[in-house]
Amino acid sequence: MAAVTDLLSARPLTRHLGAEISGVDLSAEMGDRVFRAVYEAFLRYQVLLFAPQDLPPARQVAFARRFGEVQVHVMNQYHADGYPELYRLSNLDASGKPTGHHPDKGTLAWHTDGSWQRVTGQATIIYGEVMPQSGGETHFCDMYGAYERLDPSWKARIAGLRAVHNLDFSRTRRHGEDPLTEAQRLAKPPVDHPIVRTHPETGRKCLYLGDHAEYILGMPYDEGRALIEELNALAVHPDLTYEHRWQPRELLVWDNRCVMHRATPYDAATQGRVIRRCTVLGEIPA
Ligand SMILES: [Fe+2]
Repeated sequence: MAAVTDLLSARPLTRHLGAEISGVDLSAEMGDRVFRAVYEAFLRYQVLLFAPQDLPPARQVAFARRFGEVQVHVMNQYHADGYPELYRLSNLDASGKPTGHHPDKGTLAWHTDGSWQRVTGQATIIYGEVMPQSGGETHFCDMYGAYERLDPSWKARIAGLRAVHNLDFSRTRRHGEDPLTEAQRLAKPPVDHPIVRTHPETGRKCLYLGDHAEYILGMPYDEGRALIEELNALAVHPDLTYEHRWQPRELLVWDNRCVMHRATPYDAATQGRVIRRCTVLGEIPA
């Protein structure tokens, strides 16, 4: 059942998370009241979908800036359209042909954007420029529910634990992508965050892990790795997941503080997939 206000309409995508927002014009400057309604929906539904529309890069960046400070990604080879806040992932060459090279295999594992920084990602805002006929979906799982469904012994076991998140671990060592440059590595050293964080705006507890989490502070490395792998798997419940099959020119917005996401594979040799992304910086998890 769609929740309709005088400012927008929100149609839930599943019983637990995700809503399609309509009645909002992203191509125009957005008034404060409308943005407030969008933001309230963002906090409530965790993932927002906007129907296919033309959204020039400047408008995407302007929309992202309403959420907060937009991250300039350390991996500057992905910067797009003259906006350092935009990050493009594409498997097409200059003539528009698929190259066969997947631009970031790290996105195929469940993760939360920017967890490898002290100040982590708040909203991620992705516009789908080109989408494959099959595959290349984006899946989301609810990390409030992931925490709430842990049994009391699990909750007691992980209370107070902190995980070290490391982009160099997840990207380079785990997925075999191009290594970070020395300067990129020095700019983004590993950081530790609580495994259970409290969402700063809703006040609800959520699990906070994902693929960038490497080990647990104060625990033998292998034991911490095993714990992280087990919790990352336990976090995903089919009935608390939204699987998005993209149409070109859709926009998705999600809250990295309380969902994990992943992309699904596609045939990068025969099909194109191009997205442009902004990630808004949030806060230091607590
Ligand atoms: Fe991501």
